[in-house]
Formats: sequence, structure tokens, C-alpha cells
Amino acid sequence: MNEQATPRRGAHPVLAIGIDIGGSGIKGAAVDLRTGTLATPRHRIRTPQPSGPVNVLPVVRHVADMIRKDLGHGGLPVGVTFPAPILDGTTMSAANVDGEWIGYPAARALSNTLDAPVALINDADAAGLAEMRFGAGRGHHGAVLLLTLGTGVGSALFVDGRLVPNTELGHVEIRGKDAERRSAAVNRTTRGLSWHAWAALLDEHIQALDRLLWPDVIILGGGVSKNADRFLPFLTARPPIIVAKLRGDAGIVGAALFAARIARLHLPPVR
Ligand code: BGC
Repeated sequence: MNEQATPRRGAHPVLAIGIDIGGSGIKGAAVDLRTGTLATPRHRIRTPQPSGPVNVLPVVRHVADMIRKDLGHGGLPVGVTFPAPILDGTTMSAANVDGEWIGYPAARALSNTLDAPVALINDADAAGLAEMRFGAGRGHHGAVLLLTLGTGVGSALFVDGRLVPNTELGHVEIRGKDAERRSAAVNRTTRGLSWHAWAALLDEHIQALDRLLWPDVIILGGGVSKNADRFLPFLTARPPIIVAKLRGDAGIVGAALFAARIARLHLPPVR
């Protein structure tokens, strides 16, 4: 994934489990935190509907069990992402998941479900941690804004490498609507928009954010970033735009990184 991050041969992997809860899928793997690469197969199960805790928690358990089986043991730190701001382990909103999550003590419930302490983080913040350490954000200083384009639009803001957690810039209001209602990647497919038409909506969103934040660089992530050549040429916004490198795995890798940070695992510098 990142050739520069190849570890010394024979060095021991530093592992943690990352699980990414999204509006459409719940996916996870163990991650080698020296390199940001997956150390087990990636498991994915569709997000159950309705997507409240009662249905989602057992699916997260199932994904964790598959990873633990691949590893042959269950003793690793676990990080989980969720598509909402997280304050003290509580999920504060539910734009693309069931409303039961609003004000729900999710970190505690996940820890009980997984029989392990769980570090819970916003999904876009996790993707940002992963991109800053292993991907497109490496070496970028100043104000770096990552946008994840998926079921919603997530944001992660870094200032000189430090995360400002829980920014929710998918929800700035544009022409009377939450911006993500138009600029999320899912809007292109569900409304059958051309790449050009969708890119114009994304461009409008980026320009609105630029007027508020004036970031030094914007990283575009989410599954759609693998088709960046289809829409990047249509973007006219001022800030330099680069494409995320970890694509669909950024949430998993970032969740594992966050778990390691909470567990105070020593992470060697990425080479
Ligand atoms: C949520 C964010 C999340 C983003 C991407 C938004 O609707 O409010 O917390 O990061 O979707 O999943």
C-alpha cells in the first residue's frame, strides 16, 4: 500500500483490530500499525436495517470474531469507528443510521459486546488519522482537511498534524439543505447523476468550506476516490486537492491506530 512504509525484515508486527461501522457496511481487519497494511483478510457484512444498536452490535461482534479467528487469539486492542461525533464514548447524532444511536453510550455497549475495551472514534476522523500517518497526508503541515465521500460526507481537520476531533462539515447548509444531501457519493448513484453533475455539487460544497476554513490542502477519500479521474477534472475550487491513498481501508486502519493510541502501544516512526 505504501512502499516507503515497508518494515525491516524480521521486525515484529504491532497489531490492533479496526472495525468501521458505516451506513451501508460494517467491515474490519487486524492492522499492522508499522505499515498501515491489513494483517488479516478484511471482513464485511451489510449494515442491518433498522440500523439501531440492537441489530448492529451483534454484527460488530461477528466481524470481531472472524478477525480473532484469523489471528488465533483475542487479545488485541480494538478500535471502532462510527458515523457521528463521539463525546466521551457517546454517539451524539445519527445522520445516516438509526436514531436510536443519538445519545447512546456506544463505547460501553461495544466493550461489553466485544469483551474488550473499545476505543470509539468518528469514522472520518479515523480515516484522517490513517491518511496522515500512512497515506496522502504524510508530510503535509498547516490546515489539512480530509473529506470522506460515501453515504454521507465526513470531515477530519488537522492542524500541523493534530486532529481537531468531531468536525461535521458534511452538514454545513447550502441552498437550504445539509450539503451532504447533494455532495455525498451515494447521491450520484441513487439519483443517477453524471460524474460531471455530481462533481459540480461536490465543488459547490468544497467552495463553501474553503470560504470558512481556507485549508492548505484537501484530501478526498471514501470508496469513490478510486474513480478520482472521473470527477477531479471538473473541480474548480481554490485549494489543492489530492486523493486519499488508503481508499476503503482508511477507516479500519484509523480505528486500529486510535485503539493503539488509547492502549499506549509504542508505534515506531513510519519510514
Ligand atoms: C456524519 C458524520 C460522518 C459522515 C460520514 C455524516 O452524516 O454526521 O459524523 O463522519 O456522515 O460517514
